[in-house]
Amino acid sequence: MARFASKNASRKYMVLLFLIALFAIVLLADFLWAASSSSASSPYWSTNLDFSLQTNAGAASANNNEQGKKISRAVKDEHLKDLNATFADLPAPQLEWEEMAEAPVPRLDGAAIQIKNLLYVFAGYGTINYVHSHVDIYNFTDNSWIGKFDMPKEMAHSHLGMTTDGRHIYIVTGQYGPQCRGPTSRNFVLDTETKKWHDLPPLPFPRYAPATQLWRGRLHVMGGSKEDRHDPALEHWSLAVKDGEALEKEWRTEIPIPRGGPHRACIVANDKLLVIGGQEGDFVAKPGSPIFKCVRKNEIVYSNVYMLDDGLKWRDLPPMPKPNSHIEFAWKVVNNSVFIAGGTTEKHPVTKKMVLVGEIFRFNLGTLEWSVIGRMPFRIKTTLVGFWNGWLYFTSGQRDKGPNDPSPKKVVGCMWRTKLQL
Ligand SMILES: *[C@@H]1O[C@H](CO)[C@@H](O)[C@H](O)[C@H]1NC(C)=O
Ligand SMILES: *[C@@H]1O[C@H](CO)[C@@H](O)[C@H](O)[C@H]1NC(C)=O
Ligand SMILES: *[C@@H]1O[C@H](CO)[C@@H](O)[C@H](O)[C@H]1NC(C)=O
Repeated sequence: MARFASKNASRKYMVLLFLIALFAIVLLADFLWAASSSSASSPYWSTNLDFSLQTNAGAASANNNEQGKKISRAVKDEHLKDLNATFADLPAPQLEWEEMAEAPVPRLDGAAIQIKNLLYVFAGYGTINYVHSHVDIYNFTDNSWIGKFDMPKEMAHSHLGMTTDGRHIYIVTGQYGPQCRGPTSRNFVLDTETKKWHDLPPLPFPRYAPATQLWRGRLHVMGGSKEDRHDPALEHWSLAVKDGEALEKEWRTEIPIPRGGPHRACIVANDKLLVIGGQEGDFVAKPGSPIFKCVRKNEIVYSNVYMLDDGLKWRDLPPMPKPNSHIEFAWKVVNNSVFIAGGTTEKHPVTKKMVLVGEIFRFNLGTLEWSVIGRMPFRIKTTLVGFWNGWLYFTSGQRDKGPNDPSPKKVVGCMWRTKLQL
């Protein structure tokens, strides 16, 4: 009897063991599928320039597993499986575009500030292994690139925070060096009349692509990513400045932003501070890589618009028509509306490729309504926008593979303009 019972129990164990093994195999298959599918995801950089990035399966394994489960579900779903890559494009009127003089260098993740008829275009990656350390100047009056000058050696080369008082350009933190190196805490001021640079007090911590604006006499810096490029930072600091000089020795702590992360538009209009779109997460340096090789990690893109008017409490305004990131310098305020060109939206749910944006959005600051006013000649991210004499201009960034493929390819320096009809 005792022997029979134990035999019966061991048979039960065998069945249980078999079920556990089966479950483990299913899990493993799911994980491997996820890992292979995400390493096939779109390169951040142009493949024809041989800058393809790898996925860090180790660091992102939790994400991959999570993504893998989502993919498995999606694969079963015929509708999702056949999802056209251009699904994220919104209906938009055609605009007439005119191609202007190309910038002296192609650049990605650069920065630009317009002062009167001049567009100062800063820094940026030329290639994943080469970053610019100079400023190119475009003259909107005669539509030509009229010169260049060097940036200080200690200044960051991409993902800078930047704003102006109409003469001085304030340059805050940003990534120092190529690939996926981390940010510096160093800050600078450029006097555009004298072309002289000087220091500002360093930030309490370095930030990657933080939201930056000049508001009520103070330079505000908030959000961005922390030193690893990926972790969203919520901190918000300000520094009193006047005529390019800091009036204080240290940054003051301000009300944190509701959501951290890089690549947002930060705008002051009608004496209100606005922070639009952006993302959480970004590429990181591969652990132990001597060149800080970029590897992709999970990113979530947002459509939120936050507004600060009393300096004490953030308010939500109507969100963008779709999530949009990489728009730090892709905006202009004209006639009480914000115009935003291009960007990146959520990745493709099946292929996981990055999806670029090709619309021009308008946010009417009177009615607080968003609209899509037209389509660009192609989709592009981190483009640099200016406005002069009725024309909306954009230059530089990384464009799509073509009309039917919104994933990123070539880093460009081209300049285009369209007449704004308001
Ligand atoms: C995706 O949709 C666009 C617009 O309808 C169409 O031109 C294109 O051929 C489609 N692409 C694929 C791969 O089906
Ligand atoms: C920009 O172009 C206009 C027209 O040619 C010219 O008068 C002006 O001096 C230029 N500005 C600079 C800074 O070169
Ligand atoms: C902005 O508004 C002014 C006055 O209402 C108008 O003259 C101007 O043409 C408008 N700008 C654009 C670009 O439409």
